[in-house]
Amino acid sequence: MNSALLAAKTAGYTMPQLWRVLSKSGYFIGLSGAIGATVTYATTVAPALRTRGSEDGDAAVLRRRSAHYLAWAGMVLLVTGYLQLAARLARAGKGMPFTDALAPGRIWHFLRTPATKGAWIAQGTVYLVQNVVLVLTAALLVALFLPAARRRLDALALTALPLSLATTLVSAVPVTTPKNRDAVLDLVFDQVHIVSGTVWLGGLALLVALAAARGRLGDTAGQLWADMWRRFSLVAMVCVGAVLVSGLWMSWRHVGAISQLWTTGYGLALLVKILLVLGLITAGAGNQLWLMPRIARARRADDTTSLLRLTLRHFPKVVWGEVVLGLAVLAVMPFLSGSARGEAGSPQAASSADVLAAGAVLAIALAASLYATAKASEALARRQAAVAAPGVGREHAVGTGSDRGPVARIR
Ligand code: HEM
Repeated sequence: MNSALLAAKTAGYTMPQLWRVLSKSGYFIGLSGAIGATVTYATTVAPALRTRGSEDGDAAVLRRRSAHYLAWAGMVLLVTGYLQLAARLARAGKGMPFTDALAPGRIWHFLRTPATKGAWIAQGTVYLVQNVVLVLTAALLVALFLPAARRRLDALALTALPLSLATTLVSAVPVTTPKNRDAVLDLVFDQVHIVSGTVWLGGLALLVALAAARGRLGDTAGQLWADMWRRFSLVAMVCVGAVLVSGLWMSWRHVGAISQLWTTGYGLALLVKILLVLGLITAGAGNQLWLMPRIARARRADDTTSLLRLTLRHFPKVVWGEVVLGLAVLAVMPFLSGSARGEAGSPQAASSADVLAAGAVLAIALAASLYATAKASEALARRQAAVAAPGVGREHAVGTGSDRGPVARIR
């Protein structure tokens, strides 16, 4: 505890101001809403809804809810994007109070600032383009408040998806040539981290919001939801892998020794963040190894009541917990300011062939363990099916790979 307090007070650590914390967390919440919801709608919700006819009542309820959610995500993106832009100005204009930086005239002036020497483009122009893309994304999403636009939900969501990704990618365009390979990797991993983190958290938030409509869904909605959770678990797994690999790179760049995790302010913030992410991963593993096999079994057995209970009661409860942890991750993130290496006087990180090789081995090991988790989940589902219906389980165990065969029958 004492070392934690000491760490928080280390001379090199500067506590970010409240406006900085709120605007940075807010911006990433806005991005999670837009990126996570559009990617999850496109990869998980829309394909599952397509398996139902256009007359299906459950699909209609979920489509309406998705449209409302996306429209609100657009509003949040617009507001948080503006606050983030003002925060950029407040940081650029030395000593400018955040409240002054909120003035549109000042922001416009900031965006029109000419390029500095050696830059191929003005930094303000990059931010201008980024924010034009942000406004376009938000406008497409906010349009979904209109009943006429809701009829084009799929088209609007699919158009907003690449734009929402471009909102973060454009901001990373370097205005001068990166100094070396590590600087390029920093840019790449930072964007990988942001996109995978926002897809993961934003996707969970969309699904939990849709699951809240369960009171208006029919008895067969469990099958639809089983399909959605199965699709999203693959998306989430890819995101977990990407967030961990990129997070490890960034951690190595900023932290020179494990002990710096509790002896520096930066390290302490990172440690809290890593513990929160471990909580998220544990909940995800629980879903994968406990809930998914049970869902697959109920689906095979055509057990509508269990399927509804598992997919629309148990699952959303765990996911709610994950969303809260995810918000805590975003709340801690602005406290990662400066660098533990800087605070502790450790040398700057510089990669070598050995470091990159070790990173690649780690990434492969991670991919293998995620793959093993997915396989274990399927094996558990098959084993439970075999226990529940001797003689039937084996037939399903052969060549199903997932719950594909019986699904076709249920549908
Ligand atoms: C749910 C999981 C996670 C989410 C949503 C998330 C999100 C973010 C976001 C939005 C940033 C800010 C990026 C920027 O300002 O450009 C960030 C930075 C960072 N994250 Fe994560 N992250 C997650 C997990 C992790 C993990 C597991 C680690 C470590 C293994 C990690 C390490 C870092 C580090 C070191 C930074 C530092 C940035 C800096 O000082 O510039 N993150 N994270």
